[in-house]
Amino acid sequence: MSEKATIEIDGKKHEFPLIKGTENEVAIDIKTLRSATNGIVTIDPGFKNTGSCESAITFLDGEKGILRYRGYSIEELAEKADFLEVVFLLIFGDLPNSEELEKFHSDIKAQSVVDEDIRKIVDAFPKSAHPMGVIASLTSALTAFNPSSVNVNSDEDMYKAIVKILGKFPVLVAWTFRKKNGLRLEYGDKSVGYVENILKMMFQLPNEEYQFNPIVVNALDKLLILHADHEQNCSTSTVRIAGSSHVGLFASLSTGISALWGPLHGGANQAVLEMLEAIKEDGGDSKKYMAKAKDKEDPFRLMGFGHRVYKNFDPRAKIIKKAADEILNDLGVEDPILNIAKALEQEALNDPYFVDRKLYPNVDFYSGIIYRAMGIPTDMFTVMFALGRLPGWIAQWKEMRLNNEPIGRPRQIYVGETLRPFKAINKR
Ligand code: SDX
Repeated sequence: MSEKATIEIDGKKHEFPLIKGTENEVAIDIKTLRSATNGIVTIDPGFKNTGSCESAITFLDGEKGILRYRGYSIEELAEKADFLEVVFLLIFGDLPNSEELEKFHSDIKAQSVVDEDIRKIVDAFPKSAHPMGVIASLTSALTAFNPSSVNVNSDEDMYKAIVKILGKFPVLVAWTFRKKNGLRLEYGDKSVGYVENILKMMFQLPNEEYQFNPIVVNALDKLLILHADHEQNCSTSTVRIAGSSHVGLFASLSTGISALWGPLHGGANQAVLEMLEAIKEDGGDSKKYMAKAKDKEDPFRLMGFGHRVYKNFDPRAKIIKKAADEILNDLGVEDPILNIAKALEQEALNDPYFVDRKLYPNVDFYSGIIYRAMGIPTDMFTVMFALGRLPGWIAQWKEMRLNNEPIGRPRQIYVGETLRPFKAINKR
């Protein structure tokens, strides 16, 4: 393959280097485009054809349905690793040995309390507040109580900020859930695992000993692994661009939580359940919803279907779909919503509209069915997505800072009014 790309403008040829990644992806390096062409820029709404960075964290192949974290396949990690190992892998680049994992967990546990004044912020929210709005605010508020986390100019500072958020974020998630359910804001239990502690903080009741259900623990551990990173998706790109101004880690993460909330992104897992419930209420008539999804006049989309990168099955959706069957069976949960989802999938996979556009189920299509079977309410689904994605956001933010990437500041093409003289108000 040639080393350069040539662009000809007004008869003048401009050459730009091609860069190739370790998986043979190729990009045109246009760093010199504007200066070489006296101001010409590229434009690409939604960045469908534009790479923002070189990254060594996650590899996706959308055509083949491949997802790997630091070279390990998502299939192997979901089956053989636990979430805290994957957190370490994403952030520090390799799987930890047992000593590293133990120290990492111990350092996180040492940070797993928050300033008591945070209870006052939680109390100030109405019970009706959407949990994503609450958790985004609480995450940003953490900076007020941990100002040192803003300056991460040394490896030690960076590590401290990372273990702080990994220790405190699960507390914020649990308190967000408990506030909504009128439960006392409790802490967890340092004697149990990272994921067990999350479940206990969320679900323990003041008048009984919390009983761990290994099926639920394993299901949550697997779901968190499957959501842990996904290269330059909307929320991760938001974390990176916010962090490029050198605002602190917690404030950068808060921007990612807000971006994830959107129904076109992580908010889709809540929208999928609401859609499936609507179909169920409608007598299970999925054909009506398929027609709505294909009607260009109708803004309705088949939530949980389609993906910017995957033009094949989302490998995570395959794993979650299989897990949904197993977990509901193990829990003895009969959920008609699962059968509606499967019927919808079958219809879509045989419908030319979806086949022609390569629209397959994505990570959000089946995940909510498992969350619901675990007793997690629909409006908490995207918070669980954020809990899983936290290590990915941290890893990507850390890579951006350690690579000393410049502040993100795209250009534009102006299409507004040209110069015109001011008009006095009596002349308008
Ligand atoms: C996540 O990027 C990531 O990696 C995200 C994520 C992660 O892990 O971080 O994987 C998590 O966000 C998964 C996606 C969750 N969102 C949804 O399930 C919402 C429903 N899906 C869509 O809105 C859509 O598919 C997107 C947003 C996911 C992708 O949109 P694109 O890439 O901008 O594609 P598009 O909107 O240009 O659609 C291409 C065509 C259009 O039709 P035409 O104009 O060509 O006729 O496909 C159609 C769209 O109308 N289309 C759909 C559809 N998705 C796309 N039509 C009906 N239902 C859908 N779900």
